[in-house]
Amino acid sequence: MANGRRKISVIGAGNVGATCAFVLAQMKIADIVLLDIFEGFAKGKALDMSQNATVLNYDGTVTGTADYNDIAGSDVVVVTSGFPRQPGMTREDLIGKNAEIVAQVGTGIKEHAPEAVVIVVTNPLDLMTYHMQQTTGFPPERVLGQAGVLDSARMAHFIALELNCAEEDVSPMVLGGHGDTMVPLPRYTTVGGIPITQLISQERIEAISARTASGGGEIVKLLERGSAFYAPGSAAAVMAESVLNDRRRVLPASCLLTGQYGLEDVYIGVPCVLGANGVEQIFELELTDEELGSLQTSGEFYKKQLADVLGY
Ligand code: LAC
Repeated sequence: MANGRRKISVIGAGNVGATCAFVLAQMKIADIVLLDIFEGFAKGKALDMSQNATVLNYDGTVTGTADYNDIAGSDVVVVTSGFPRQPGMTREDLIGKNAEIVAQVGTGIKEHAPEAVVIVVTNPLDLMTYHMQQTTGFPPERVLGQAGVLDSARMAHFIALELNCAEEDVSPMVLGGHGDTMVPLPRYTTVGGIPITQLISQERIEAISARTASGGGEIVKLLERGSAFYAPGSAAAVMAESVLNDRRRVLPASCLLTGQYGLEDVYIGVPCVLGANGVEQIFELELTDEELGSLQTSGEFYKKQLADVLGY
């Protein structure tokens, strides 16, 4: 098992975790550990992925386990454990059950991978990321949440559909919390460098922003059981890669704010530089009063939830 490769651990072998591990394996950047409290679930999926190595031509190991000792030495830990939404639920409805799980996982990470950068995917995302930072006590730049990459990708897809153009030429921007208060920013969204405000009518932009904000819910309704996982798992993998390889990609992520955008002591989605230390820098955009108002409403909503429900 010992080799010179770096290590990424994915906690939770459900749909999101397994997708994340699968995408990471194909990136060929690290050995992957897939941990789940249901040992057979993690081992079975890891074995299946391992047997796929010659088919897809990757050679890093994928190991399934229920033992936190196996995450020792991880450079990055992605946390996907927890219950997904079912139809009719908001992400915030998951808070009670998932807070307990995040606390258990955080304790395991603190003990066994104290140097890791932690990327949280568990919902309600911004609240669970705060909870993870508090549980581990890691510096805030080493605990961040996946959401903006997913929400932006959803917006990009709807814009590409609207303009019948290549997905890769869309540069979207969605900030705020990963929930009903998210803040799509059309003014900062471009296609081939052109602001979409010059290409798409205001009315259609509003429809696209609304569909983006309820993008996860649309999938929950269609699936009838559980929530999206291909894009959420892939988004977390892309963030992990930027950290592991110190790519310093500029991506939106849930970060602890310390006064930026007039908010503090709350995790919320903002554009940041993702490198070896986690969040290397947070960018503060110039926003209109309305945009800033939406972002602050989003931040205040989560601050209230942190205090009222989690007792912070
Ligand atoms: C979503 C869930 C994973 O947005 O939050 O699909």
